[in-house]
Amino acid sequence: MQKLLIKGKRELSGKISISGSKNATLPILAASILAKEVRLKNIPLVKDIFTMIDLLNFIGLKTKIIKKSNIIEIKNNEKNINTLAPYKLVKTMRAGVLVLGSLLTKYGKAKVSLPGGCAIGTRPVDLHLFALKKLGAKIKIKNGYIFAEAKKGLKGTIINFPSISVGATENALLAACKAKGKTVLKNCAIEPEIKDLIFFLNKLGSIINFKGRTITIYENKLKSSNITHEVIFDRIELGTYMIACALLAKKNVIIDKIDPKIVKNEINVLKILGVKILKKKSSIIIKKKKKLKNINITTKPYPGFPTDLQAQLMVLLTQVEGVSKIKENIFENRFMHVPELKRMGAQIEIKDKTAIIKGPTKLTGAEVMATDLRASVCLVLAGLIAENRTIINRIYHLDRGYEFLERKLKNCKAEIKRI
Ligand code: UD1
Repeated sequence: MQKLLIKGKRELSGKISISGSKNATLPILAASILAKEVRLKNIPLVKDIFTMIDLLNFIGLKTKIIKKSNIIEIKNNEKNINTLAPYKLVKTMRAGVLVLGSLLTKYGKAKVSLPGGCAIGTRPVDLHLFALKKLGAKIKIKNGYIFAEAKKGLKGTIINFPSISVGATENALLAACKAKGKTVLKNCAIEPEIKDLIFFLNKLGSIINFKGRTITIYENKLKSSNITHEVIFDRIELGTYMIACALLAKKNVIIDKIDPKIVKNEINVLKILGVKILKKKSSIIIKKKKKLKNINITTKPYPGFPTDLQAQLMVLLTQVEGVSKIKENIFENRFMHVPELKRMGAQIEIKDKTAIIKGPTKLTGAEVMATDLRASVCLVLAGLIAENRTIINRIYHLDRGYEFLERKLKNCKAEIKRI
């Protein structure tokens, strides 16, 4: 089993280029089922994306990845289509459930494995099914599978989500763009990745607009060929490297291929902490500051502070003077990195949904275990600032979502290698 070996306390300098967003690419890949020919640029070459591509191949689409330019070409010649998403593919990557909306709306039926829980929480799909039922789908759960049917097609309606879900908003959007009449989705997630999906669907011929948390989808014929789309940058990868630089930048580190407007809140949080950030049109420059201030923060749906950066921010807060608090408001079990950080010397206490972090504490290298994608990268950050050597086990979690992590960090003078 592969591990990461990090020698800590190396200052970072240079440039980091941000990859395409995993969480935007996944629903757009699921949306490609609705077209005949799609070419996606700026896709990140990470494990979750390859799993989704395997799923599209299983369904019967033809895919060609051009690795050196991060491009994928997808063709659907409508031959031997399988409206099934099997357990073996959905269990390793929950976003597999997103093919449900596309398959159902296009082919009138779908059988998709229930994804089940995962390390960070139970993560049900009731809101996905609630929306599809409202659109007229008949849904049964049997033998661990969702059986969905809409023989006469789906019908537009008003759907008011009882709580905000990224995946449920995406599945509802996919299903509604071939429904009859108008669909209005209320209380939606409005993450930039959802806006990128809407941008893609509009290229397909959908007419979708949004205002606040309401998305309206109008009935329209979809175009199917020659659709090219460049996926948005990965704002979570950007946030991760911003935090790494706030901890370790020697002079200035430039982070490029981004749009600072999309991460306004994350930049503000770091500025409140005292980190120096200079915004340019498609890049930022970060400077490490000696003394940072403590904060209290709660994770929220976009435009709030993302749960996907909670673990990374916690590492930064271990180096800040005073007591900081992070309330995790999205997932019920997302503090699994805390025992590992404590083993490295962090002083963190958990009370209900809140982590209380006392700083500054000196972290020392240790052998630690990654538990999920963002927890693993938080251990990388901890290893980078710790004294001596840190070994991170179970790094397959990291490979699910961070493209060229070691290469990007090594280019900035970090000492990190896979063993
Ligand atoms: C997506 C992101 C993930 C991120 C999360 C929250 C992708 C591939 N993944 O996950 O990285 O951490 O958004 O920003 O884009 N819920 C229900 N019922 C449902 C659906 C969700 O109760 O049917 C709950 C979840 O358990 C969770 C909350 O709603 O507590 C938010 O989950 P959701 O926004 O759906 O996250 P995902 O789409 O799974």
